[in-house]
Amino acid sequence: MTKSGNAIHAGRRGDAFAGLSSDEILAGICGGIWKKVCLFESVDSTNERAFALAASEAFPQGAVMIADAQSSGRGRLGRRWISPPGRNIYMSALLKPEIGPREATLLTIVGALAGAVALRNKTGLDLRIKWPNDLMVNNRKIGGILTEIRSGPEKINLVVIGIGVNVNSDEMDFPEELRGIVTSARTEAGRTFSRVGIIIEILRELERWYKILTSEGRRPLLEEWKSLSSTIGKEVRIVLGNEVLSGVAETIDDNGMLILQLGSGGKRRISSGDVMELR
Ligand code: BTN
Repeated sequence: MTKSGNAIHAGRRGDAFAGLSSDEILAGICGGIWKKVCLFESVDSTNERAFALAASEAFPQGAVMIADAQSSGRGRLGRRWISPPGRNIYMSALLKPEIGPREATLLTIVGALAGAVALRNKTGLDLRIKWPNDLMVNNRKIGGILTEIRSGPEKINLVVIGIGVNVNSDEMDFPEELRGIVTSARTEAGRTFSRVGIIIEILRELERWYKILTSEGRRPLLEEWKSLSSTIGKEVRIVLGNEVLSGVAETIDDNGMLILQLGSGGKRRISSGDVMELR
């Protein structure tokens, strides 16, 4: 591993590989809240690397981990995130926000908005957000956000916003059970995209939405999230462990929880789960 400026380059082939370059990414984001870009050829999980960096450095805020491939990429609800080399984006941003643990869901919203807006800007695709954090195009999943926190009782100490985007994958990169459910920017647009360009745009949008959250509060985020939502107003089925709930997704509340109008009457506030949008 070598250091140059505020970039760490990690990987056997030096400071740039498979079309990824930390210098190019840093040049594209020009200052702001991102202080360090760590680029890896292959890691277990960029979220894991972010927490490892946080354990070894006093001021890790603003560090970004990016990998060409992940061997143990993780998704929500304990799932794995398929992370082949040379094609997609696997990145994690490390922040130390001045908010309490109960507001942590707002950071997932920051990640989902950044991913959706950046992808829409760079690909022209009609990005939607399926609650809570699936990035969707044409009802197929193109990306996802995994926000993990380390917190004390009153304050979050560290938050890692992990973002995975299927950029240039084709269907054969995914196991059979996911084909037809997932997609990529290349599959949808019929052309390949520069991962660096999309990473830069995601970091710009992450910074923009994070600053909106810290300066103006949650309201603008929730409004934008609702306008990009594919879930609100839909009939849905939600799997919560052993429980299956059906109803209409009415809205999200001020903490990003889904308010479900149950088919059987009454309402439920849902904090996590697997949503299937029916109509
Ligand atoms: C989901 O289940 O939708 C969330 C997927 C998040 C995947 C990303 S890839 C970069 C970061 N590192 C991980 O191990 N997971 C996240």
